[in-house]
Amino acid sequence: MSTPPSAAEAPTPYAVVVQGLTKVYPTGGEPVRALDGVDVSFARGAFTAIMGPSGSGKSTLMHCMAGLDTPTSGSVRLGSTELTSLDDKRLTLLRRDRIGFVFQSFNLLPMLTARQNILLPAQIAGRPVDPERFAHVVKVTGLADRLDHLPAKLSGGQQQRVAVARALVGGPEVLYADEPTGNLDSRSGAEVLSFLRDSVRDLEQTVVMVTHDPIAASYADRVVFLRDGRLVDDVAHPTAQDVLDRLAALEG
Ligand SMILES: Nc1ncnc2c1ncn2[C@@H]1O[C@H](COP(=O)(O)OP(=O)(O)OP(=O)(O)O)[C@@H](O)[C@H]1O
Ligand SMILES: [Mg+2]
Repeated sequence: MSTPPSAAEAPTPYAVVVQGLTKVYPTGGEPVRALDGVDVSFARGAFTAIMGPSGSGKSTLMHCMAGLDTPTSGSVRLGSTELTSLDDKRLTLLRRDRIGFVFQSFNLLPMLTARQNILLPAQIAGRPVDPERFAHVVKVTGLADRLDHLPAKLSGGQQQRVAVARALVGGPEVLYADEPTGNLDSRSGAEVLSFLRDSVRDLEQTVVMVTHDPIAASYADRVVFLRDGRLVDDVAHPTAQDVLDRLAALEG
């Protein structure tokens, strides 16, 4: 007779688990405590937004979870991997193979077409791209008739969709996006947000997005709020108005 797995061995429903995360930046004067003991978990296949006032630690949290910055103390687990125990080389591989990142400025290479930009990271990694996945990502991003265009010939929304497609094509365990609609007008922003939401629904993608925009946050399944480096609120299925109310309470 087999014994059921103990709770510790059971697969976690979370893609990312953060515990007691603290980040102190040494500066010339008083050190800055950008994160102050954050505990938060992000469910697999869910779309979560992180909000909070400027300087509340949103980007720092995301960078620590993406292996782009190292915390002062605490733990970040991606699946069963503890990021804080990895050396630089392993962290680089983890970022390359298991994490997607989208920045506010699209960071596309101007001399490469949309298709070449999307395929570049896999090419650098010497990793084949699954043609079905590529076709699916291109279809969901609505980029099929734009693949041979250079970034300069694409709208801001299309460029950001190329950046998202590039981050998604390798099938990362988590897609992190730091203000992905910050440089876009509202229509292009809506395109990118719908696409992120569809990738969660159709590709079972886990997405974590930092945003200042209550409408952007309302696309998410859940919104967590930071203030002064601490997690202060957590709301499921919020409307833009819910988000506005919480932000007003936080900033008031
Ligand atoms: N490299 C650094 N050195 C020193 N302090 C830093 C550094 N990076 C961030 N900080 C400080 O840490 C705090 C949190 O910064 P962070 O960039 O995470 O905020 P944020 O919530 O993303 O803000 P914003 O909404 O303006 O992007 C701020 O006080 C910031 O000044
Ligand atoms: Mg930021």
